[in-house]
This record gives sequence, structure tokens and C-alpha cells, in this order.
Amino acid sequence: MTTYETVAAQLTAGIIEDGYAVVDDLLDLSVFKAIRYRFDELQDEDEFEKAGIGKQLQYTIDKQVRGDFIRWIDPADQTASVYELYRFINAFKVELNRSCYLGIKDMETHYAFYPEGRGYQKHRDRFKTNPHRIVSFVYYLNEGWQAGDGGELVLYDEDERGIKTVEPKANRLAVFLSETVHEVLNCNTERRSITGWLLDVPVELTFLG
Ligand code: OGA
Ligand code: NI
Repeated sequence: MTTYETVAAQLTAGIIEDGYAVVDDLLDLSVFKAIRYRFDELQDEDEFEKAGIGKQLQYTIDKQVRGDFIRWIDPADQTASVYELYRFINAFKVELNRSCYLGIKDMETHYAFYPEGRGYQKHRDRFKTNPHRIVSFVYYLNEGWQAGDGGELVLYDEDERGIKTVEPKANRLAVFLSETVHEVLNCNTERRSITGWLLDVPVELTFLG
């Protein structure tokens, strides 16, 4: 049986070597299904809101640039299924801090969906006004995803050459350094995920910039 620690070590090795890593079949199928079910519930309850770009004063909403709808996850209010994802991410955090001294202290996560036709243009998750995001992770929830559905995550190097394309397949986790330029290609069918960031300060201090 592969333990969370083994998978966390594989992902950490990928971060060190390449700045990213991808793993399939992350969680037990029953846990994946429960998370997927919770996602549906939140959508039915209209819990999502249009995501913006930047924060506070710089905050803008431009669906051409960023097309997703999000719902933040309160770490104190987790369903058992999401808690299991957190358990894995915590193992990953421990391994990153042990191997890379990244000083990860906390995380923030949200559910996200992109309606058909939407994507997220090239950007970095770590930038001047938000320097505390160190590692980004995306857990995909798209059962039966197939070529042509779009919504791939594309990672770029510093010369903006594409270095990795990740298909957003169900129960797959992608991790990458938050300073990496990346893009979500427009999707041809609704695209769902849980997206999160490992932070080098407690989440309540990220506003300090
Ligand atoms: C983001 C992002 C990537 C993805 O939300 O900042 O780049 O694959 N997401 O959903
Ligand atoms: Ni991003």
C-alpha cells in the first residue's frame, strides 16, 4: 500500500527537480466520490461566486482573464471527505519543509468551477501583492475527462515556453511552485477542481503582503 508519506515524497522530489509534479489516483475512490458529491451540493446551493483577480484595492473581475467561480473552504468546517484531502496535503507540507526548508505554515483552498468556454490566462499565483503563496496544488474532479474537453493546465518556463500540460482528470493532483507562469486553457465542458496554496505565513497574515 502506498502511504501518503510515500506519495508526498514523490511530489516533493518533482518540485525539487522540475518545479512541479503530478500524481494520479490520489485518494480512495470512495473519498473522491464523496468530495465530488459535496461539490454538487455546493453548486446546487448556489454557494459559488465569480472569482476576481488581485486583492483588495487591485481587485477586479474580468471573465476574459479569469473565468472561474469559487467557494472558499473554511478549514474549521470540513466534511470528512475534504478532511482526507487536507490530511494528504499536510503530509506533503511536512515533507516539503523537511526536504526543501520552504517554511510552509498554513494553506488556503477553494472549490472552483469553470463554465464551458472559460479558462484562466497566463499568470503567477505568487506575485508582489501576494508573496506568501509558495506551492500551488490542484485536485481535479472531472470524471470521464477526454481529449477535446479542454481545460488543461499548462506550465511555462521563464522564457514562457510550455514545459508541461496537465489534463484535469478526476482524482489527479498537480503541484507546482506558485511563482511558475501557468494557464488554464478554455474548457469545452464544465471543469471542476479544488485549488489551494501552501503559505509561508498563517493565512490570517497574508494581507500583510
Ligand atoms: C488558479 C489556477 C489551475 C488549475 O486557480 O490560480 O491557476 O488547473 N488553477 O485549475
Ligand atoms: Ni494559478
